[in-house]
Amino acid sequence: MDIKKELKDKQSFVEDVLKKYTIKEGKPKSIFESFNYSLFVGGKRIRPILLMESCKCVGGDTNEALPLMAAMEMIHTYSLIHDDLPCMDDDELRRGKPTNHTVYGEATALLAGDSLLNLAYETMLKGAKSSKDINRYVEAMNVIADSAGVKGMIAGQVMDMESEGKEPDGETLDFIHDNKTGAILRASVISGAVVGGATDDELKNLSEYARAIGLMFQVVDDILDVVSDEETLGKKVGMDSERNKMTYPYVYGLERSYEKVDELLNISLNSLSDFGSEADFLRELALYLAKRKN
Ligand code: IPE
Ligand code: IPE
Ligand code: MG
Ligand code: MG
Ligand code: MG
Repeated sequence: MDIKKELKDKQSFVEDVLKKYTIKEGKPKSIFESFNYSLFVGGKRIRPILLMESCKCVGGDTNEALPLMAAMEMIHTYSLIHDDLPCMDDDELRRGKPTNHTVYGEATALLAGDSLLNLAYETMLKGAKSSKDINRYVEAMNVIADSAGVKGMIAGQVMDMESEGKEPDGETLDFIHDNKTGAILRASVISGAVVGGATDDELKNLSEYARAIGLMFQVVDDILDVVSDEETLGKKVGMDSERNKMTYPYVYGLERSYEKVDELLNISLNSLSDFGSEADFLRELALYLAKRKN
């Protein structure tokens, strides 16, 4: 499989889905411009792709997943806009372009994040009206909502901020990674499986896959902040150590971080061993995410 090509095709499919569900224009013009800027400025689209592929993997109808995919990317993009604000990570570059607040100002960026978060729920609720299996659909929505909330991503973001400058601590690090990044990555896979009608066994295996790649994704993100460069990554490097963030390399060192990525990659591949070729893309994606450069 040519994973790079596959990913490119799926990314452009996701862009079309997002175009379908976003609100392109309205009054005042600035807010529509601002949130659409961040939504369409680039990005790997990993979360909606995971959601769609997990749904496919269990033989589900991916049409059911489309509004959930759009919502997931909207939630992710809102979290990035807010993550980059001066009161949080204070970053100027995202997805290879100036961050939202750099272009539109802080107040509009804050509201652009809010707009995308709300639009995610508007999109999911509209999708519910035409869903062929409302119980599954609502259950999948529930998974997504929980993951983005105060027991998921937000808890991780708060802990990330509160841990700046603290002594290395593995337990805190696990909490940050599980929540700030792991939660919505896991939810992408699980909601896809749920809306696709997964059996209990399929759900169990895919949940294990999701846990492993969710954690792996953030360990790689932490590594790239140390070893990559701005042009490749599309965001500034070295910012984690500048802000004394509780990252995997900070707590365990780079060598151990690379080993951890390998361990998690193996767990993710093993967890798919009950599946046949229907899980090939998820396997290739895990390999790609372990070796990714941006
Ligand atoms: C960046 O996520 C934020 C983290 C959770 C590490 P991605 O690396 O998926 O960012 P985009 O969407 O491709 O820009
Ligand atoms: C961001 O984590 C996680 C969320 C936005 C929820 P980071 O702060 O490590 O992400 P980057 O490195 O800025 O992309
Ligand atoms: Mg952050
Ligand atoms: Mg950040
Ligand atoms: Mg980071």
